[in-house]
Amino acid sequence: MQYLSAEEAVKLVKSNTRVFVHGSAATPHTLLHALANRKEELKGVEVVSISTLGDMPIADESCKGSFFINSLFVSGNVREAVNSDRGGYVPIFLSEIGHLFRHKILPINVALVNVSPPDQHGFCSLGVSVDVAKPALEGAEVIIAQINPQMPRTHGDGLIHIDQITVAVDVDDPLPQVNYAEKIGDDERKIGHLIAEMIDDRSTLQMGIGAIPDAVLGQLGSHKDLGIHTEMFSDGVVDLYEKGAITNRYKKKHPDKIVSSFAIGTDKLYKKIQDNPLYSFHEAAYVNDTDVIRKNPKVVSINSCLEIDLTGQVCADSIGTYHYSGVGGQMDFMRGAALSKGGKPIMALSSKTKKGVSKISPMLKQGAGVVTTRAHVHYVVTENGVAYLYGKNLRQRAYELLKIADPAHQEDLEKSIFERFGSFQYSFK
Ligand code: COA
Repeated sequence: MQYLSAEEAVKLVKSNTRVFVHGSAATPHTLLHALANRKEELKGVEVVSISTLGDMPIADESCKGSFFINSLFVSGNVREAVNSDRGGYVPIFLSEIGHLFRHKILPINVALVNVSPPDQHGFCSLGVSVDVAKPALEGAEVIIAQINPQMPRTHGDGLIHIDQITVAVDVDDPLPQVNYAEKIGDDERKIGHLIAEMIDDRSTLQMGIGAIPDAVLGQLGSHKDLGIHTEMFSDGVVDLYEKGAITNRYKKKHPDKIVSSFAIGTDKLYKKIQDNPLYSFHEAAYVNDTDVIRKNPKVVSINSCLEIDLTGQVCADSIGTYHYSGVGGQMDFMRGAALSKGGKPIMALSSKTKKGVSKISPMLKQGAGVVTTRAHVHYVVTENGVAYLYGKNLRQRAYELLKIADPAHQEDLEKSIFERFGSFQYSFK
């Protein structure tokens, strides 16, 4: 291992190779800027990552031909590139990305990561993002690491010895700040309230991305002995732990621990997880394994989507053909929750977009991708109520979803149900 400047370090990246970029709040910005500065010299560098945060200079239009953004989960900073000829989108379960790296389906030549300084034994921590970074590093030919004192040293499996790092670059970079609570509006609060009522004491929770998870957590203050086993979390979990509602006491896997694969939040969160054995970070291949998830009792999985059709097919990664997000761990956890004893997979969404477009539609938009199939969907919650689809036929599902759709769109939706399924109505015992 040698220490170099960022400019010298990124010279190890060669044309026509594949580079892994550390994701979420661990996005290595100093290295990315240095790499972008080499755009005139480099050709055909394929960049793979899951959701990244902050600047992504290599996704800029001026980098066409030098860098190709082959996204495993589309975040805002690469969306434009991924939807152009400068990038592409790989639909893949978060639990299986490690398999792509380990089994050389997507072999990694160079990994760019952002880690904590080595401890007294020489181990650096992958900090807030262990998820797919751990398997990416295992197979990488070259590892270039930002050594960042602002990266929390987290407990769990996300350690790498300094001797495994090819080149280290000293930085002192703050982590990106994301405050999901600021995005909670009236709809999210109502959805949070409905879901909080569905959660029993001693449940094990998984929350997806966005304002709805934090809105749910904000209303669980009076619950008892909740557990957390989730692919990601934010400040809402820290606040709920401080209120005493989370004890993790009844979890079967990792009792007494909050288990996650990554975290995104504010400095409050990043300080809390620093060297704190309460928070245990593991790779997503483990955390999101349905066999692991199902072992915990009463797993409640709360995820969101962009659109759901009247039969319950869920689109969460695209708006029509436009790639917006990714598969992520949605299916891993929806299925894991369904398999757990007393578990509840919940799809939570506001019934309409801010522009008033109904998210419940007769058919998915042309080109939309199904992330969660209608056979996997059980509960759907909007600000207007809860629809239970499990075991129901397509006609019954359509009427269940109609009840929780935006009132302004209900007449049109009902017409389309009538056209598709006819008027015949009956009830089962
Ligand atoms: N038609 C047209 N536009 C739509 C739409 C629809 N049916 N649904 C949403 N949109 C637009 C919104 O208007 C908004 O546009 P804007 O960015 O211009 O404001 C944008 O799409 C995002 O919609 P929003 O409802 O604000 O999304 P969100 O922040 O609640 O996130 C997902 C929803 C689906 C993107 C997010 O949950 C996700 O990425 N899920 C997939 C992965 C996953 O679940 N992983 C599991 C746990 S990490």
